Amino acid sequence: MLYSPLFLFAVLLIPAWGAADGGSSSHHKPRPSNDPPLPPSQDCWYEQPADIDEYKPGELIRSRQIENELKPFIELGGDVSVHSVYQYLFRTTDSLGNAVAAVTTLIIPYNSDPSKLLVYLVPYDSANPDCSPSYALRSEAETGSIPGNGIPQVSVELPFIAAALNQGMWVTVPDYEGLEAQFTAGLQAGYATLDSVRVVLKEGRKIGLTKHVRYAMWGYSGGALAGGWAAELQQSYAPELRFAGAALGGNIVNTTSVIETLNGGPSAYLGFRGLYGLAKAYPNLTDWLNENLLPDKQEEFFRIATSCQFDGQGGEYQDLFSYSATAERSLYEPVPSSVLRWSGWLGFRGTPKMPLYVYKAVADEIAPVENTDELVQKYCSNGATVEYYRNLVGTHFTEVITGSVNALGWISDRLAGVTVSNKGSCNTEDVAISEINPSIVPRIGVALYFILGSTLGDELGPP
Ligand SMILES: *[C@@H]1O[C@H](CO)[C@@H](O)[C@H](O)[C@H]1NC(C)=O
Ligand SMILES: *[C@@H]1O[C@H](CO)[C@@H](O)[C@H](O)[C@H]1NC(C)=O
Repeated sequence: MLYSPLFLFAVLLIPAWGAADGGSSSHHKPRPSNDPPLPPSQDCWYEQPADIDEYKPGELIRSRQIENELKPFIELGGDVSVHSVYQYLFRTTDSLGNAVAAVTTLIIPYNSDPSKLLVYLVPYDSANPDCSPSYALRSEAETGSIPGNGIPQVSVELPFIAAALNQGMWVTVPDYEGLEAQFTAGLQAGYATLDSVRVVLKEGRKIGLTKHVRYAMWGYSGGALAGGWAAELQQSYAPELRFAGAALGGNIVNTTSVIETLNGGPSAYLGFRGLYGLAKAYPNLTDWLNENLLPDKQEEFFRIATSCQFDGQGGEYQDLFSYSATAERSLYEPVPSSVLRWSGWLGFRGTPKMPLYVYKAVADEIAPVENTDELVQKYCSNGATVEYYRNLVGTHFTEVITGSVNALGWISDRLAGVTVSNKGSCNTEDVAISEINPSIVPRIGVALYFILGSTLGDELGPP
């Protein structure tokens, strides 16, 4: 899908991440790591303290500095190092309003600009905690230690994180699904994203983040689900935060409609993970699932539902509803429909105050464009600031690449303090972007240009 042999090849072009124009920097040797890190389910650092109620939202519980090497894009070796990497366990709020813990990973490149912070939302799309980016990003993470696991989603995302690091941004990558990986639980994702910013703003100060740092969110697909919820919840949950903006693409606006749209298709496994992830957040949905899953299909349901992104665990072209006694009525039964309406539909929790940049393939086969059209309309009639680009070319899996360059450009402008030209109003534009234009090389770097280009199937050659 997203891979081509050239994509693998291009990985070798990347030596280290840091601002491209930097001079001689203090080089930090990777800290020796003898043993591979433990996956979150086995690593006691991730444990939630018994007195979690004593902590305030966004308050630090514990932190650690980890090796300053990140996972190469694919298992091909080649060091990718950064200045330093920190992880924070902090208090947040779950979908029922209870105090819980979550984790974020803060990555600082060489020659960084500590006045710029990107909140990068990885679409890890999994209901398995061991697929969380805080683990998958680590250079020595053993994907093999998760049974049957292949390539975690995060390795597909690293080119975008790398591009931001190459611009000198500090990048924080929250495990916004929480410690239990409650994939698609919108409230949990939004709260954890907002609290991850709180903890990084506070703790980052101790290691050089400037007081008046500008920060913005970027997420595609599952990442845009988290970012969309965070943007709606920000004014009520974290009113003190002042985001410079949020770039959200391939938007997941209505999880009911997404599950129906992708069911039976090549990405059908997302429906299994989404339903299971949501059930972890809502006990009544867990009960419903236990009552309605067909006994002879339970094992396979959970095998698919606990897989990591792109790990070949099956589920492609499966009919989710054939696993349930309620068949195609499943999502309209009282319990699932009430939970989906409560924590799976955007547009009901507030109008985002931060400027938004929205990019979407009109032919998106995962998340129908109509839902995004309607959401943008709704925000706009309530005074939001939105730039909305509807790409007439491509699908969900090409837009992640073709839309990325302009999204990152928009974020760079926001973090540089450039004010949006459409404050308080909306611009919607149909565009036709089918490739990555070489003129963006100065902005994203030659290595990323090649990676993105080859991922789309272009021919390699001098730009
Ligand atoms: C969400 O999608 C479902 C299924 O298509 C639909 O019935 C429902 O009306 C949608 N909700 C909103 C707010 O559009
Ligand atoms: C299931 O639980 C959620 C969260 O408590 C609640 O909003 C919803 O109404 C419940 N559904 C039913 C059918 O009781």
